[in-house]
Amino acid sequence: MEDVYILGIESSCDETAVSVVKNGRIILSNVINTQIPIHTVYGGVVPEIASRNHIDNISDVAKKAIEDANIDFNRINAVACTYGPGLVGALLVGLSYGKALSYALNKPLVGVNHIQGHIAANYITYPELKPPFLCVMMSGGNTQLVNVKDYTDFEVLGRTKDDAIGEAFDKVARVIGLGYPGGPKIDKMALNGQANIELPKTHVDGLDFSFSGIKTAVINLHHKEPDINKENLCASFEKAVTDMLMEKVKLAIQKINVSKIVLAGGVSANSYIRKEFEKIETNGIKVYMPDLKLCTDNAAMIASAGYYNFINGKIDDLTLNAVPNLKL
Ligand SMILES: Nc1ncnc2c1ncn2[C@@H]1O[C@H](COP(=O)(O)OP(=O)(O)OP(=O)(O)O)[C@@H](O)[C@H]1O
Ligand SMILES: [Mg+2]
Repeated sequence: MEDVYILGIESSCDETAVSVVKNGRIILSNVINTQIPIHTVYGGVVPEIASRNHIDNISDVAKKAIEDANIDFNRINAVACTYGPGLVGALLVGLSYGKALSYALNKPLVGVNHIQGHIAANYITYPELKPPFLCVMMSGGNTQLVNVKDYTDFEVLGRTKDDAIGEAFDKVARVIGLGYPGGPKIDKMALNGQANIELPKTHVDGLDFSFSGIKTAVINLHHKEPDINKENLCASFEKAVTDMLMEKVKLAIQKINVSKIVLAGGVSANSYIRKEFEKIETNGIKVYMPDLKLCTDNAAMIASAGYYNFINGKIDDLTLNAVPNLKL
């Protein structure tokens, strides 16, 4: 079969990213313009500022992605674009750019669910990885256990009933004064701490999660004891959320009887979580985790997911709209 080149576009939150990926697995270019320094001043992403910056950046990011890939625009087989979930104004920038490109090049437009993209980051990291597997999807906006039956066939087994796990990391970090984005800062702090503070774990039936209780408990504890050791608090928070995750992952393994566990999303960059997941590897179970630079938002993962949509005939037309609360 002839090689297939997909141009991926991602603009769902505060990263403007464009990438070219060959056959769904090999990165030819992966350009990311992050707005983190701009939003840090506000302690979180400001949607309108994000949209305006995407508009400023998208053309240059796309040009650089094509240059880096050393490929002619016309060699692209399809344009894959995140159309949800995310901030509507941010999504519309990448999607409109993708539509224009698809029209001008006369190449198919392929809409990609951002969550499907996070999962596909693993196909780039592990060229041999194939479904079926259990995906532990944990990002800034989502936390869910997904039965990935095939490249484009997903069954959500459980999800958070309130905060996403990344949201809990970010809120705790903000309240204890670590700044934005909080996940990497808590990760670093916790490395020097002991998980010696008892925190209440919320029990939810079945395979769903809840992270708002633990977040509030940490915040209340910090208000009550402002001099509490932050390194120990971060380590204890990480341990408590990881225990809650693990309990459900073990249940899900029994339920769907899988041998592959695949992590995805920004929080899968967390060093404590990665270490704990390594521990559940046994003869019968193998754990996969995305390359660190592919855990958070990027367009290579969108191009990879787009490749599987494309070869399975899942193609869109120019009426495709942004869907801010798109589900898998
Ligand atoms: N080392 C880390 N430890 C814990 N959390 C981390 C780490 N690195 C990044 N994160 C968290 O990952 C999240 C960002 O990940 P991601 O880019 O996947 O989320 P998003 O795109 O905002 O949300 P979604 O993908 O659900 O739309 C943030 O909440 C950030 O704090
Ligand atoms: Mg994301």
